[in-house]
Amino acid sequence: METIRLPRIMQETVMRERRSGKAVGFVPTMGALHEGHLSLVRAARAENDLVAVSLFVNPAQFAPGEDFDRYPGNAGDDLEKLSSSGLADIVFLPGKEAVYPPGFSTRVEVVGLSDRMCGRFRPGHFQAVAAIVLKLFNIVQPARAYFGQKDYQQAVVVKRMVRDLNLPVEISVCPTVRDPDGLAMSSRNVYLSPEERQAAPALYRALRAAADALEGGRRDAGGLGSLMRTVLGREPLFHGVDYISVFDPETLDELENIDRDDVLIAGAARIGGARLIDNLLVNNLK
Ligand code: PAJ
Repeated sequence: METIRLPRIMQETVMRERRSGKAVGFVPTMGALHEGHLSLVRAARAENDLVAVSLFVNPAQFAPGEDFDRYPGNAGDDLEKLSSSGLADIVFLPGKEAVYPPGFSTRVEVVGLSDRMCGRFRPGHFQAVAAIVLKLFNIVQPARAYFGQKDYQQAVVVKRMVRDLNLPVEISVCPTVRDPDGLAMSSRNVYLSPEERQAAPALYRALRAAADALEGGRRDAGGLGSLMRTVLGREPLFHGVDYISVFDPETLDELENIDRDDVLIAGAARIGGARLIDNLLVNNLK
């Protein structure tokens, strides 16, 4: 496994590999790797000749007051995990200065998708995500790139950017990896105290309750929203719900009437010093 720190060297290395006919599979991450990340790397390994993983905590996608300064993880541990897994060929580990040289001023806005759901509570976040993902695609030049359903809105924003800009990359969205009690794995779960960790799966249980009700024939979005808030409300350690509702899985519009066969149920809620997000897709409702 090779570690590359400079964008120019990364670009030259993958260009050489591409010229020799190799397809590159790419997994962008902010490090603090867990099984969710590794599941993406495994998917990339299965479908490509060369697997590249990036580790870069992107300061631009954190709003002031968010957790950039305390974001978990350490590059040594991540490199060890990747190298002992035997799954990655190249790790791209750029410094902040290499990614954002003086004068950097580009944002990429996927209009309409970036300012709803989490975007309402994290202004500028998805613009910065789209910009870094586009930049990483230009550096790594992957045939395929792998994202987790865990960050559903991010995956939708990236897919729309790729379509709108004719980027020559195929986006693969992989299932959310969960702990046995249902909590979606996240680098940020280390912020939870033992009590909060025990309470945290209530978010998944709330989404699951709505999914079960939908599958049982219920179609009132308002009622499903109340049901989810009730389930979550039984866990007093959750002290704020940013949103928890039913959405159109493509446009991310919040649904009032459920008259379609695929829906997204998604929520974001705060517990202790952490903000948790999770979602479920429910298909073939009609
Ligand atoms: P990060 O939060 O490190 O996540 C990297 C990738 O891992 C994302 O595609 C995310 O959806 C996926 N992932 C995280 N937890 C997962 C889980 N439990 N199951 C499956 N996949 C999971 O998302 C980012 O970094 C950044 O925004 C990035 C795209 C790297 C741009 O900076």
